[in-house]
Amino acid sequence: MSSGDVFDELNPSPRLMMGPGPVNVDPRVLKAMSMPLLGQFDPEFTTYMNEVMALYRRVFQTRNQWTFLIDGTARAAIETFLVSILEPGDKVLVPVFGRFGYLLIEIAERCGAKVELIETEWGQIFDPQKIEDAVKRVKPKLLAICQGDTSTTVAQPLKEIGSICSRFDVISFVDATASIVGMDLPVDEWKLDAVAVGLQKCLAGPPGIAPITFNDRVASIINLRKHIELGIRPKGFESATGRTIASNYFDLGMLMDYWSESRLNHHTEATSMLYAARECARIVLKEGLKECSERHADASRAMVAGLEAMGLSIFGDKKHKMPNVTGCYIPEGVNSEQVRMDLLQDFGIEIGTSFGPLHGKIWRIGAMGYNCQKHNILICLNALETTLRQHRVSVSSGAAVDAAIAEYRKKSR
Ligand SMILES: Cc1ncc(COP(=O)(O)O)c(C=O)c1O
Repeated sequence: MSSGDVFDELNPSPRLMMGPGPVNVDPRVLKAMSMPLLGQFDPEFTTYMNEVMALYRRVFQTRNQWTFLIDGTARAAIETFLVSILEPGDKVLVPVFGRFGYLLIEIAERCGAKVELIETEWGQIFDPQKIEDAVKRVKPKLLAICQGDTSTTVAQPLKEIGSICSRFDVISFVDATASIVGMDLPVDEWKLDAVAVGLQKCLAGPPGIAPITFNDRVASIINLRKHIELGIRPKGFESATGRTIASNYFDLGMLMDYWSESRLNHHTEATSMLYAARECARIVLKEGLKECSERHADASRAMVAGLEAMGLSIFGDKKHKMPNVTGCYIPEGVNSEQVRMDLLQDFGIEIGTSFGPLHGKIWRIGAMGYNCQKHNILICLNALETTLRQHRVSVSSGAAVDAAIAEYRKKSR
């Protein structure tokens, strides 16, 4: 092969990623990812593993021993949980308020579960009473629900959901990928049995590793299905009598051994991603969970004020809007994809399109993680205003940025 056949060195253009995620990674996380690899059973590395568990217990506001990382993007943790807990024929209830509710259904059905769903219009949330009624009617083994669904930019209040589930002996599982640390999620206080997330939104990391937490109630169900692959099975280990979990990679039983003091070999750890996860949690906890969610709420108010001053209408139930992503209606007659392309090419700014019933109707503009900073909101509003003007939308010049600045000033008064 001649040197001419080799591609150029990677040199991605600088972008400001103001979509629904992923977003720009905090430089401190990128730095952590460039640290030298260690062997996964090197005592220094297992210390990092324990630190990761301790850090994410604080992120999840839980005392759950079983708080660790699943290698893969956010859905890897969702799939790990569902494939490990569900057996064919198990009943699952999914309240769907956007695309990611359907993802929960899709994975649960692949596990052989019988899924019942309740639905609400995209952009709206459920009254907890409606969820309680469905729990009573369906009597599921598991209730699976999203906190924030980026597809609709709204978040389901979860404060009562864990209690409802525990009253009816139902396991509660939450996908908080899109909302973790952008919104409060006190796992123990809200009595949630299991929660899975990803790094690529408010945690300011890259996609590729997925924190999960679950309580002893879940662990005891998993243990009834505990099998260990033959080549690493310790002498004297007796397999549990329950059905073997259908995935090796996503087998929570073996993963619990891998992450506990027994350190039973399983997969080769994604070392650099573990470093990233550790740094993401460390940064957020150093800032403070309350401060971090307030930063996202402040940005949300500024973004809404700016978009409205520009004459755009906000999509969905505003009271339950996710703080880290804002949906706004695309003005009538505008070529929405061309606007997004112009923003990218002229300003290096990415905003999100939408799918399902919202396709072509709304843009989704994120301000999360490392990007959730005042100057980025102002830059994004300014660029959108200019681009819309070039697309002959009548917008009053400077109004968006003025309104966003005024919103931020209210806070500092
Ligand atoms: C709420 C929610 N759940 C799950 C996912 C899937 O995550 P991933 O693409 O990292 O697997 C996303 C991604 O945007 C999400 O927003």
